Amino acid sequence: CERQDGRPFKQRLLVVANRLPVSAVRRSEDSWALELSVGGLVTALLGVNEFEARWIGWAGVNVPDEIGQRTLTKALAEKRCIPVFLDEEIVHQYYNGYCNNILWPLFHYLALPQEDRLATTRSFQSQFDAYKKANQMFADVVNEHYEEGDVVWCHDYHLMFLPKCLKEYNNKMKVGWFLHTPFPSSEIHRTLPSRSELLRSVLAADLVGFHTYDYARHFVSACTRILGLEGTPEGVEDQGKLTRVAAFPIGIDSDRFIRALELPQVQDHIKELKERFAGRKVMLGVDRLDMIKGIPQKILAFEKFLEENPDWRDKVVLLQIAVPTRTDVPEYQKLTCQVHEIVGRINGRFGTLTAVPIHHLDRSLDFHALCALYAVTDVALVTSLRDGMNLVSYEFVACQASKKGVLILSEFAGAAQSLGAGAILVNPWNVTEVAASIGYALNMPADEREKRHNHNFMHVTTHTSQEWAETFVSELNDTIVEAQLRTRQ
Ligand code: ADP
Ligand code: G6P
Repeated sequence: CERQDGRPFKQRLLVVANRLPVSAVRRSEDSWALELSVGGLVTALLGVNEFEARWIGWAGVNVPDEIGQRTLTKALAEKRCIPVFLDEEIVHQYYNGYCNNILWPLFHYLALPQEDRLATTRSFQSQFDAYKKANQMFADVVNEHYEEGDVVWCHDYHLMFLPKCLKEYNNKMKVGWFLHTPFPSSEIHRTLPSRSELLRSVLAADLVGFHTYDYARHFVSACTRILGLEGTPEGVEDQGKLTRVAAFPIGIDSDRFIRALELPQVQDHIKELKERFAGRKVMLGVDRLDMIKGIPQKILAFEKFLEENPDWRDKVVLLQIAVPTRTDVPEYQKLTCQVHEIVGRINGRFGTLTAVPIHHLDRSLDFHALCALYAVTDVALVTSLRDGMNLVSYEFVACQASKKGVLILSEFAGAAQSLGAGAILVNPWNVTEVAASIGYALNMPADEREKRHNHNFMHVTTHTSQEWAETFVSELNDTIVEAQLRTRQ
């Protein structure tokens, strides 16, 4: 398709996600610094440039005053971002509360500790009301910027109520919704007091996407068991309206990582790291400091490995880069303290005057430093207790063309379905098994490493974020055309 000026026509895409790709930090009354946001959703969508995309979301900051809202809107417009302003109370109830204290643990099969469970039950209704209110605020902004023909792509568990709000505004809007987390077994979803309302709202979308076939199947079962609707091979049918449900496994912009390795500043980083850790094998963990990532379990497995393999104690180092996340949620605060305590104890136990076995950093690394770290790593440890996909595992593989390091990967990450044949799959809850896998990975012969790496590299470089987005959007367009044909018949 071409425009009148001969340039190719790009479909306008409104990406709606709770978090914008940049987070704002206020410098003064009317000036802002914009920093790249961290997380899998942002990483995947950054690589999507086939579309004329606008991104609608929250800039991660409370802006109560009119000058602030005006100047931030202007600064974000340069990045093609449109802010949704959420006040402190809404953020507390909707983002910290309903999204990150209720939906996030539930979708990752993590029960809340006993004392929190009761508190959550008490605050449930007010948090759910705030969730609906916040979703309506997102819908208002989308509606304001929507133009006929646009595709509206809603993302993640924060916005399950959004498809319904959008269709209430305009039933002709093309609406897709994609979940970046697992969708749990219907037996888990059944325990949510708002289970039916959420499912019905998502079903207002034209196309509903998940990372894996299993998550899609769980969603369809929840609709049949909880709502009594009919599940078909295409999706879910309700009174003649079909909502298409399918798996669209996400990927990364692998070329961006491969190209970065050639840059002089990345090469300098690589050289420094090699000198710094000369004579030691490097093991790496890169995670948001989140309970789903299994960081304490990973570190305990490393301790067990050191305990059982004294010869390795001065020959291996674990670099754990854990960027703090959702720091206003008490569970996350507790996790930070727990991780610090375990790292301190193990370094005290196995460290010497000149070296410690674990380097734990509570921060994010910039892109170039991250690429360099991936490139010098011998063994990457991705031990999530549950994870929608896990893009860190993909990024590691993309940066390993010369080293061909080993990936130890949780069987509970979506990525286990795509990288399972190349990685060493582990049950992250089983510390003994993970410790044994560390030993196996460190001793793996070069030809086995190469075979495993080639399998994964092929997958990561062919199933990219670009391909993922194009497939989803083209399927959404097709779904709508098919629905129109069905109604005409
Ligand atoms: P999640 O979606 O739960 O955040 P993913 O593994 O899918 O997990 O994606 C995480 C993204 O955030 C990756 O692109 C990764 O590079 C980035 N990231 C995670 N931790 C850090 C960190 N400490 N420093 C820099 N980037 C990080
Ligand atoms: C996961 C979620 C994203 C979220 C990201 C970072 O990837 O699926 O929706 O943006 O974590 O979390 P945060 O709460 O900081 O946005």
